Amino acid sequence: MKILQDMVRDHSVLNAPFVQEMMDATYDMWRFGWDERNGGNISLLLEEEEVLAYLDPDRVIRTIGLEFPVQELSNRYFIVTGSGKYFKNVRKYPEDCLGIIRVSEEGKSVELLWGLAGDGRPTSELASHFMSHIARLNADSKHRVIMHTHATNLIAMTFTHALDEVSFTKTLWKMCTECVVVFPEGVAILPWMVPGTDLIGKQTAAKMEEHKLVVWPHHGILGAGSSIDDAFGLIETAEKAAQIYMLVCSHKGGIQQTITDGELIELAKAFDVRPPDRFFHLKQKALS
Ligand code: 13P
Ligand code: ZN
Repeated sequence: MKILQDMVRDHSVLNAPFVQEMMDATYDMWRFGWDERNGGNISLLLEEEEVLAYLDPDRVIRTIGLEFPVQELSNRYFIVTGSGKYFKNVRKYPEDCLGIIRVSEEGKSVELLWGLAGDGRPTSELASHFMSHIARLNADSKHRVIMHTHATNLIAMTFTHALDEVSFTKTLWKMCTECVVVFPEGVAILPWMVPGTDLIGKQTAAKMEEHKLVVWPHHGILGAGSSIDDAFGLIETAEKAAQIYMLVCSHKGGIQQTITDGELIELAKAFDVRPPDRFFHLKQKALS
């Protein structure tokens, strides 16, 4: 009976909504041209009941050590993308490209319950993901997803635009009317750093305490959300604004007019969002 139950569980995990969502999101991100090769990674926090519907929690395939302890996430379950896996291929080989893991009691390792076939490992950006989950859960109990992607126009913008958070954010807000409503807390920006390290994880998480979008210059962006759609939609909105910025900047007539600071304030009032005051103390050269 137990064997039969295990077979049914193992088979049906591929149909789990959270596996399907990971397959769809990674494919869409690749189609958008954001995630070339193995670029990008996603982690989705799962409720225990969601996992138990498909997997036996006592069947640990292997344990993977962590170099950065995350006791705050002890016994929490995640589905994550694997390191070196191509987003293009997640739909074809989900069991190879994705993994369902549980953080150990002491937070010093993760237990693999499904996927990452062979000797696959979770994304090399797990430090940034886990530390950002901790920061976002402290800020918002509905938080579930961290998504990292190499969004083309946001990366392009980190070469042509000043890298201060206020002016970068305001440029994005002024490119599409809805931006200030979708990310009123603005966009955080780190200095360029080597990816995949505990240091970038700590600094990203520090920014995540007050933001849901963190730009890694010349590399990509991280977005946080209460669902895959939420995090995806957030990044998509910022990326669309960056695309418009890159389009208008390359136009030979330059920018003729834009949304004003006063109009941003009107928008914030109309949609009942509160961008921090610091955004309205700095006049921008070209875009105010
Ligand atoms: P992983 O394949 O290890 O997830 O790394 C991809 C990436 O985008 C690193 O920043
Ligand atoms: Zn990356």
